[in-house]
Amino acid sequence: MPARASATADEIRDVNARYHDGAAAAYDAKWGIDYGDVGRAQVVSKVRKALAASGRLPTFARALEIGAGTGYFSLNLLQAGVVREAVCTDISPGMLRVLEENARTLALRVETRACDAEDLPFGDAEFDLVLGHAVLHHLPDLGRAFNELRRVLRPGGTVLFAGEPSRYGDRLASVPKRAAAAVAPLWRALLRAGPAAGGHADGGAVNHELEPFVDVHAFTPDTLERAAREAGFADVRVRGEELLANWFGWANRALEATADPDEVPWAWKVYAFRGYLALQKVDSALLEPRLPPAIFYNLMLSARRPA
Ligand SMILES: C[S@@+](CC[C@H](N)C(=O)[O-])C[C@H]1O[C@@H](n2cnc3c(N)ncnc32)[C@H](O)[C@@H]1O
Repeated sequence: MPARASATADEIRDVNARYHDGAAAAYDAKWGIDYGDVGRAQVVSKVRKALAASGRLPTFARALEIGAGTGYFSLNLLQAGVVREAVCTDISPGMLRVLEENARTLALRVETRACDAEDLPFGDAEFDLVLGHAVLHHLPDLGRAFNELRRVLRPGGTVLFAGEPSRYGDRLASVPKRAAAAVAPLWRALLRAGPAAGGHADGGAVNHELEPFVDVHAFTPDTLERAAREAGFADVRVRGEELLANWFGWANRALEATADPDEVPWAWKVYAFRGYLALQKVDSALLEPRLPPAIFYNLMLSARRPA
């Protein structure tokens, strides 16, 4: 949901930092973030699609991630050997603390910096790759952010984003969400799961209040493409990702949100996760190459800083 129109840029940044600090501890569990084979394959597949790369992916010597969160993209790309050196930034120090803990567990070396993506504490042309996943939609001034990204990227370097919400994809996804909410009491009865008690694992009631104000944009492919071009990027490419997988995922998430998490059977969780992965493959093989990017739930962008 986009932040209220009257919020200032500073308010949006402040809410994002506080909300994500509160969400950090439970973030990986909530979103099923994986740092093993599954997570690595997901992230590599997204990078491959965004770059429209066939065959081996290039190796990037030094990468900067903005809004890196708990490390989903950078830690998996380090493990996959796509990135040799990663600098991970985020406006939320709490998210970066979890990222550092994840890196320690995986025995990976990363540099972290808490900062705003629109005001990066790095010199010009320091990076070969600048990337982000599910972050652009939180940034108050997209033009300023893209100018910063271009500044810190070396000439000829690559910029890459994935997981950005698409305006029409988001509207389409409200259909399965509403349908799931309508059948939730029946679903709980079949699974013998009690209703959810109040309260929220990821940051408590405070975060529940902040949640409507953290998202600022839902993009059309054109708005994303224009922002990159206006900042001077070349070879801009926008693609859409996930349709059936997302409908399935949101319907299950809407059902699960109504139940006591301890009473949702394990077998259901396995079915929901495997079903999501299977539908991702269907989307990827059949739908993404054929349908317009605008109707997918997520948008991805890649571009190059002219040499
Ligand atoms: C939806 S989370 C995605 C995290 C991670 N990239 C992932 O895919 O799991 C968005 C992240 O962007 C960060 N963020 C929000 N506003 C930001 C800003 N102005 N500058 C830098 N990071 C920001 C949040 O703190 C949060 O960690």
